[in-house]
Formats: sequence, C-alpha cells, structure tokens
Amino acid sequence: MAYDFETLTPALDADSPMRRSLTERGFSKNVIDYGVAEMKFPWLPELEEAIVKLAGTNVMGYSGADDEFYAALKKWMKTRHNFDIETEYVNQTFGVVMSIGISIRALTEVGDNVLIMAPVYNPFAQQIRLNKRNVVESELIFKDGKYEIDFEDFEKKIKDAKLFILCSPHNPVGRVWKKWELEKISRICLENGVTVVSDEIHHDIVFDGQHIVYGNISTEAYDNCVICTAPSKTFNIPGLIVSNTIIKNPEIRKKWEAERDLIFGHYTNPTGCAACTAVYTYGEAWTDEMCQYIKENFLTLKKLLAEKVPQAYMADMEGTYLAWVNLDFLGLDDDGLKEFMEKADIPVNIGSVYGAGGSGFIRVNIGCPRIYVEKFVDMLAEAVKNR
Ligand SMILES: Cc1ncc(COP(=O)(O)O)c(C=O)c1O
Repeated sequence: MAYDFETLTPALDADSPMRRSLTERGFSKNVIDYGVAEMKFPWLPELEEAIVKLAGTNVMGYSGADDEFYAALKKWMKTRHNFDIETEYVNQTFGVVMSIGISIRALTEVGDNVLIMAPVYNPFAQQIRLNKRNVVESELIFKDGKYEIDFEDFEKKIKDAKLFILCSPHNPVGRVWKKWELEKISRICLENGVTVVSDEIHHDIVFDGQHIVYGNISTEAYDNCVICTAPSKTFNIPGLIVSNTIIKNPEIRKKWEAERDLIFGHYTNPTGCAACTAVYTYGEAWTDEMCQYIKENFLTLKKLLAEKVPQAYMADMEGTYLAWVNLDFLGLDDDGLKEFMEKADIPVNIGSVYGAGGSGFIRVNIGCPRIYVEKFVDMLAEAVKNR
C-alpha cells in the first residue's frame, strides 16, 4: 500500500482528544474509542498541505466554495459515482445532520410522520423528535447474516408519512443498497407522494459493490429527493464541518433554502472547503486503499470472532467502517450490555440507541489500524471468559 493505515492517529498520548474523552468516561490508558465514527488513520498528505497553505494566506473570509471547489466536487461525483450535478443544485451546510434537520423543517409540518429504517444512525430519530414530528420506524429484517428491507411494512407505513430518510450506505448495519432496492423504495415513495432525504455520507466507503446515488435511480427519483453528502467520513474531517446537499428539483430546493436562511446565511467554512477541494482532487488512490484496508479489517474481525468468541455473530459488511456485532448470547438487557462493555474496558456504542432491532448488538468502529481490531477481539474474549 502506498499510504499508511498502520499508524494510530491521533496517537493515544495523554493530550490527545481521544485519550481525554476516554479517560473522562472511565476507560483505561491503552484502549482506543471503538464508538464514535472517526477513523484513526493518518490523513491524506495533500489534505494537511491544503490546510497549512490556507493558513499561510492569512485569509479566512466568506469565499469558501469557489470554482475550484465545485469542479473538484463534480469530478468526484462523476468519476466515483457516475453522478452528474450542476453547481446550482448544491448547498453547503455545516454537516449532514444540520442538512437533515433543515430538510425535515422545510418539507414537513409539526406533527407529521417521518419514516426511517431501523436500526439506523440515531440523530435521524433525534432530529425528527426535536422538530416535533413523529418517528415511524420500519424495522429491517436480519436474514442469513445480512439485513433486508421489509418492503411490506415499508409500504404500509409510508402511506401515512410525509418524508422518508434513507441511510445509504446504511449505518449501522453495513448494507450498500442494491439498484433494485433503491428502485423499489423510489417507486413506493413516488406512488405515495413522499420525498426522500438520502443521507449518503458513507458513499465512498464500499468494498466490492458500487454505491448508487439515489438521484441516479431515475429522473423522477432525482426530482424527488434531497441528497446529503460530505467528505467527512471518507477523509476523517467531520470537525471541518463541510457537507454538500444536492437538490435538483427547484421547488424542493427553494423550500429547503428558505428554511436554511432562517438559521444561517449561505456563507461557507473556508477551511472545510479547502479540505474538500484537496481530498476530492487528490484522494482517489487513498480512498481505494482505505476501502481495501477496511474490508480486510472486517474479514479479520469476522475470522477472529469465529475463533475466539464463536457465540457472537456479525452482519456482513458491504460498506462503512462500522461493524455490527451481536452479543445476544450474553443474555443481557441494554443496560447490562453497556455495563459489560464498560467493565471489559471496550468503548463501543450499544445497539439499542439505533432504535428498533438494535438491542443485543454493539457497533464497533473498525476504521483503525488492524492491530486494534485484533485487540478488540482479545479484550472481548477475555471479558466473556471472566464474566
Ligand atoms: C449516516 C450518518 N449521517 C451523518 C453523520 C454525521 O454527519 P455530520 O457530522 O456531517 O453532521 C454520520 C456520522 O457518523 C453518519 O454516520
């Protein structure tokens, strides 16, 4: 591999933010955080160079998203995702969650139902509730080691919904939705007059298959959606708060922008934009290697769990760097599982926070040097032995 994925970054030294946050939560000195979705690899070198260069100009104005930025974004979406966008379709926000909140307020009323497929990234439900809309969950089905959409349930529930928030690829169950699945979602949503917010923040992190941008399903699908993307998961820069929201339909875009204008003007974050331009210009090979490395981490985790904690099982991962591991054999409730993991000194996210179908699972971040994947299994095996 041309790039370094073996050096733990940030290091676990006393001053690192990861160390401090773990210590505050009572974890010991040698563990890394397997919970929060931040990768632990050194950056793409050109990313650091771009930020240093920007700092050297002593300019931090309002001119973040310039022509170079849009050219890099369009090229990235075209070459990696075969997806065409026009500059006017794109708006920046300070993150995908912010964009989802704006979409909820722009496209639904207080008291409306918003559908999600659970278990799913918990800020979806949080944003729906904070905006005083109702969370409606359609639970995914776990079958033969992999998650499927319960289309019968989905179709039934969408009839009373105003908006559907899709997670594609899906955090935490690791699915990269197939074309036929997205086509079926799109047909059902169009038939029922439901707009789709497609959170595609993990769009670049896929192993063997191809991520399909929701707007690539059909002209009708592209005209009926809000697509939320960002470079933040792929290149580990969520703190630079830059995300790109793509809306083709001018009516939806107008409503969305009106809602956005209530909370901030359309200025952008220059550091985030410089970072996004750099990664989308120079990050192709890095991304390929990173995906390959994470796929091997997943295979390592699967193999080691089978050897050392055979009662545990995990969902097959097609993308993202978040593994979904079932520990039902421990016979613990949600609080018990949380306590068990804390006692084992393994910081992970407990599955129940992701809604229906999450109990009994843990979400494990494997976007880290492989040695820490091995360490995770050893620590888990030790805790199971000593329980
Ligand atoms: C599916 C999904 N959406 C959004 C986010 C966070 O997005 P942002 O930091 O841009 O708000 C995450 C972070 O893990 C995520 O997994």
